[in-house]
Amino acid sequence: MHSSSKIKQNTFADDVMRGLSATPKFLSSKYFYDNEGSRLFQEIMKLPEYYLTRAEFEVFSRQTDEIFSAFNADNSPFDLIELGAGDGTKTSFLVSYFLKQNADFTYVPIDISAEALNTLTAKFEKEFPQLLMQTEKGDYFKTLETLSTKSSKRKIILFLGSNIGNFRQKQAQEFFRELRAVMNKDDLLFIGFDLQKDPQTILDAYSDKQGVTAAFNINLLKRINRELGANFDPKEFSHYAIYHPIEGAARSFLISQKKQTVFIKSLNKNFDFEAWEPIFMEISQKYSLKMIAELAKESGFQIEKNFFDSKNYYTDSLWKPV
Ligand SMILES: C[S@@+](CC[C@H](N)C(=O)[O-])C[C@H]1O[C@@H](n2cnc3c(N)ncnc32)[C@H](O)[C@@H]1O
Repeated sequence: MHSSSKIKQNTFADDVMRGLSATPKFLSSKYFYDNEGSRLFQEIMKLPEYYLTRAEFEVFSRQTDEIFSAFNADNSPFDLIELGAGDGTKTSFLVSYFLKQNADFTYVPIDISAEALNTLTAKFEKEFPQLLMQTEKGDYFKTLETLSTKSSKRKIILFLGSNIGNFRQKQAQEFFRELRAVMNKDDLLFIGFDLQKDPQTILDAYSDKQGVTAAFNINLLKRINRELGANFDPKEFSHYAIYHPIEGAARSFLISQKKQTVFIKSLNKNFDFEAWEPIFMEISQKYSLKMIAELAKESGFQIEKNFFDSKNYYTDSLWKPV
């Protein structure tokens, strides 16, 4: 389970050791985003099957003024803190509008991926030379600890792109409780939830025809080869995704195509794979409105407003501490 203190001690090598020694084997999806992974994720966002980015973009582009009014009701200065900002494409739409309205804010994107932050910084510095920006590279579990002491200004925390879907439901509740503990009464939390819908639509988003999602998953094996001196043969693993409609969760796996042994030099250890043995890579939890309401309540928030796209595929939910 995620706790900021536990996460702090873990390195990439520790987590790979733990995941590949477990039964069933797993790897943490937070390591997807090296340079190539971040580039592949940008491609995923453009895929016809990956409706999530378009749905959230539609919310931001059609309801910009309503979002701005909800964020800026009292005109007081704020820090716009984004957890797992990625390349910030969608957020740039909000930032652009806020600047035009002369809002007094500093944008604080936090991401574990240097590549994502570099892309974001280059783009934002070029497009918005007047923007006050303070980027932070790191794990957002760690930054939780410093969030409350960062500045005395109001905090508006963005957690977009269905990042929350990568947590199991209990972890999500724990994460929001930790966030709540470092937030003040007039702070706000804005979260992108992918909603439950036709299971086939969801499954297609994690199993695209062009195989970009497959390449995105396989890339983590290549990262282990490069950074930890392993000898994974990426051709001997295939990507497989499922959606479980009762749990409302999509899951991605890499499947070993044969009985094989992989050596990881940094860990000085062999890992045996049976033929057809899966490595669990990622969960993408989909939410109902009832689940969102319960999650808010259980973690100490009330829902101010849910913003929807025109197909009701997705909601950006604005929460206020109770
Ligand atoms: C699914 S992408 C979404 C990016 C962006 N929020 C969007 O909506 O387009 C997830 C992003 O979160 C970052 N990330 C994942 N786990 C993280 C962690 N524990 N700490 C900081 N960043 C993390 C990844 O590097 C990646 O850029």
